[in-house]
Amino acid sequence: MDIQNVKGTHDVILDEANAYEYIENVMKAIAESYAFKQFRIPVIENSNLFQRSVGESSDIVRKEMYTFKDKGERLITLRPEFTAGIIRSFVNNKLYATKDLPVKAYYVGPVFRYERPQLGRYRQFNQFGIETIGTDNFYHDVEAIVLGYSILKSLGLENVKVKINTLGDLESRKNYKEALKTFFEPHLNNMCSDCKQRFALNPLRILDCKVEDDKKIIADAPKMTNYLSSESKNRFNKVITLLKEIGVDFEIDDTLVRGLDYYSQTVFEFHYSSSKGVDYGAIGAGGHYDSLVKEIGGPQLEGVGLSFGIERVYSVMADDGLTGFESAGLDIYVMPIGEAEQEIGFYLTSNLRQYGFSCEIDLSNSKIGSMLKKANRLQAHFAIIIGEEEIDSKKATIKNLKTQEQVKIDFDDLINYFDKAFQLNDDHHECHHDDECCCHKEKDVDGHHCCKHHKGENE
Ligand code: HAM
Repeated sequence: MDIQNVKGTHDVILDEANAYEYIENVMKAIAESYAFKQFRIPVIENSNLFQRSVGESSDIVRKEMYTFKDKGERLITLRPEFTAGIIRSFVNNKLYATKDLPVKAYYVGPVFRYERPQLGRYRQFNQFGIETIGTDNFYHDVEAIVLGYSILKSLGLENVKVKINTLGDLESRKNYKEALKTFFEPHLNNMCSDCKQRFALNPLRILDCKVEDDKKIIADAPKMTNYLSSESKNRFNKVITLLKEIGVDFEIDDTLVRGLDYYSQTVFEFHYSSSKGVDYGAIGAGGHYDSLVKEIGGPQLEGVGLSFGIERVYSVMADDGLTGFESAGLDIYVMPIGEAEQEIGFYLTSNLRQYGFSCEIDLSNSKIGSMLKKANRLQAHFAIIIGEEEIDSKKATIKNLKTQEQVKIDFDDLINYFDKAFQLNDDHHECHHDDECCCHKEKDVDGHHCCKHHKGENE
């Protein structure tokens, strides 16, 4: 029997992998331009980290975590999100002692949730996100939203809708939760079992219920705005005013409570209606947290963050025809005809690669015609043909696969030849022999997309 991938996981390969890399590079470049620095944290964490942060009332902790005992009987969880781990790292590394608060972290990598697999919902998926830790300043909430908004715009997504709400401060939430309890108690028998649990653990989460009959009851529930302290109201007004001034297109959604327990004050989600009208759910989301750092063992510091689901961002881009990525194509395809020729071919290939050309050798021992077809499939610029005659004369036959011109060049002179050929060739990308190689950056110094990953944008 074939071994299949685990349910809810997917392979990201070939062109799709190029697209993921492109998306992540755009996200990183923009985060870095906002002075965020990269954090790489473990995929596994002690389980109690998520119980303490994401919270016992969240679906994630109640039923979605991949948790197991390791051989030392420790309870370990595959991270279901990054924020908790980033804060743990901030606390463990005593970054709160730095003079330069807030600490601004960005991250990217896989996360794991045991959810029912469906469109836009995987059990292993990728997140890119940022956390600004050590600030209660509302400007940082706005900064996180603006950053998310500009990332999506830079990726070409024009119909971004930001939903935003406030959960207020602790006191406001306490009063609001009491009001919700009083309201929902008489309806509880007619509500779903999840809502019954939420009622006991965190009645705010009931507002997030997706069951149609429950939604009708929820429509009449008290509104958060009526329970906000005047400070929380003012803070939210400042956030909204600034967003309007900056030109972020948003709507206030007073049922937005988010599925994780650590939020306070501003919460937000990025939604997108693609040209195909498919709903993948929120493509990104985040919010402010006021006691997470303390909960994880650090001092009383606040923060704000946001995470994108790369799979969902990719899906809406694909629907809108924004994923026309192609691989860079090869510089040189080496074609030894026969086994003896393979040895010299392999040696030449190694040299060319060490010098920085992208180079592949055909070791199939097949006919020259089929080797040439493969060279074209790999979009090689040049083929090097090595047969008996070439070995005797110590000159390689070089075929320009665009113009079909052929020349003979001394083995020792190949690097020189290609160096000049690529300098003359306008089409060639600029990544070779350049100390400031831009392959891993979004755009090169002239503002062009590098390596032709992004079709049509180099013209
Ligand atoms: P979240 O809303 O749980 O927030 O996840 C963030 C994003 O991850 C979602 O908007 C969605 O795009 C994506 N996502 C969530 N679940 C799945 C899934 N099963 N399959 C595919 N994509 C998914 C957080 O994780 C918070 N840590 C965000 C944050 C950062 N808050 C403060 N800082």
